[in-house]
Amino acid sequence: MTSPLAQPLPLACGATISNRIGKSAMTEGLADSFDRPTKQHNQLYQTWSLGGTGVHITGNVMIDRRYLERAGNVVLEDDSEIDKFKHWARAGTVGGNHLWMQISHPGRQCPSLVNSQPLSPSDVQLKMLGSFSKPRALTQLEIEEIIQRYVNTASLAKQAGFTGVQVHCAHGYLISQFLSPKTNQRTDQWGGSLENRARFARLVVQAVRKAVGDDFPLSVKLNSADFQKGGFSLQDCVQVAAWLAQDGIDLLEISGGTYEQLSLMGVEATEVRESTRRREAYFLEYAKAIKASAKVPLMITGGFRSRAVMEQAISTGEIDMVGLARPLCTEPDVSRKLIEQNIDSIDDFETCLKIGDGFWGNNSPVPLIKTMNTVGQVSFYYQQIIRLAKGLPVNTKLKVFPLFWQHMLNDTCLNIRRKRAQRRYRT
Ligand SMILES: Cc1cc2nc3c(=O)[nH]c(=O)nc-3n(C[C@H](O)[C@H](O)[C@H](O)COP(=O)(O)O)c2cc1C
Repeated sequence: MTSPLAQPLPLACGATISNRIGKSAMTEGLADSFDRPTKQHNQLYQTWSLGGTGVHITGNVMIDRRYLERAGNVVLEDDSEIDKFKHWARAGTVGGNHLWMQISHPGRQCPSLVNSQPLSPSDVQLKMLGSFSKPRALTQLEIEEIIQRYVNTASLAKQAGFTGVQVHCAHGYLISQFLSPKTNQRTDQWGGSLENRARFARLVVQAVRKAVGDDFPLSVKLNSADFQKGGFSLQDCVQVAAWLAQDGIDLLEISGGTYEQLSLMGVEATEVRESTRRREAYFLEYAKAIKASAKVPLMITGGFRSRAVMEQAISTGEIDMVGLARPLCTEPDVSRKLIEQNIDSIDDFETCLKIGDGFWGNNSPVPLIKTMNTVGQVSFYYQQIIRLAKGLPVNTKLKVFPLFWQHMLNDTCLNIRRKRAQRRYRT
């Protein structure tokens, strides 16, 4: 019997995704000191492209080089390096799949090492150990300018040969900051009611749609909720999803959480309970409400690890696409194996990646140890991405404690190298 994951998915824009598995965005950290894509991007995406996934969504590409999610992000602001993007797009589509560029602005989630004066709807600082400065509230003029930047980057992505774009409205980045009443405390037309908080997201999506045309795939990644008291709620999500569907998106990807509440990785996903099936796919239980309200194909991402759960979610029509991220780092061709029914489940390394148990585990009462575990776990996947990008085999034996220190060192070096190079260029 053929897997339901093998079915093609037609989109409203006229494009078709060849099957029901999408690679969700993962920041690569592979850009050079001038924030340009490199040969490593080409190698990585070619490997992924040959792995049988229907649509690959790139790691978040920044729309403004002054504000990054991390050093090593790619920035697309103008066409001066368009050839490098064309190479990336070509390599990432050799397998006949779609390759969509995720475009984003970090807002307050911009590390101090990148910029010590980040921007946000309001001046609400991120509550995290050390490394993020208090943001300044955006002016009306700056908000309008940022909308144009999304449009510009989306148009350039199309020009470079990417087959679609995804606007990042989730995980506590700028658009998500506008959506949440915790981070958006404005009293003008951009804050207050849900209609006002969603204005920025909607104007970005409408303007991008106008610029790329009706026949170009346009997706949004949205939080089901922030899972924080007084934050963006499931009820908000259901309404915003309906509005975005009206604004002409082709695929809605649902995730959840922010840097302060890492539900996106299944960490502290307190809302996730019920059956094992529900626990495995963190946000699947919200699909019904979102689908009832937004008439648009739905991809849910986060925690899918067994073929039976994926196939059931697709065959019952609960969702239209399964989003996978971390499994693609350790098994770049996992989609083909799932679709051809050669495997029943994917290794979930994240459940055993921690410094130790008890005091040293994920729920340590010491914030520094908790942070080391979280950073070390993400770094495990960063390292697999780097290895794939260099054409090396994955190494699943890496340990969280050394990975934490390696990441801190790498990140600091990347920031210093980038700052030096760009300063030299400017003088
Ligand atoms: C290394 C890494 C980098 C990520 N970078 C991004 C990103 O750039 N944009 C984004 O929307 N999500 C990002 N995510 C979140 C994933 O897209 C996904 O939502 C999350 O990992 C849960 O899916 P999974 O359980 O299949 O891994 C990242 C996750 C990981 C592990």
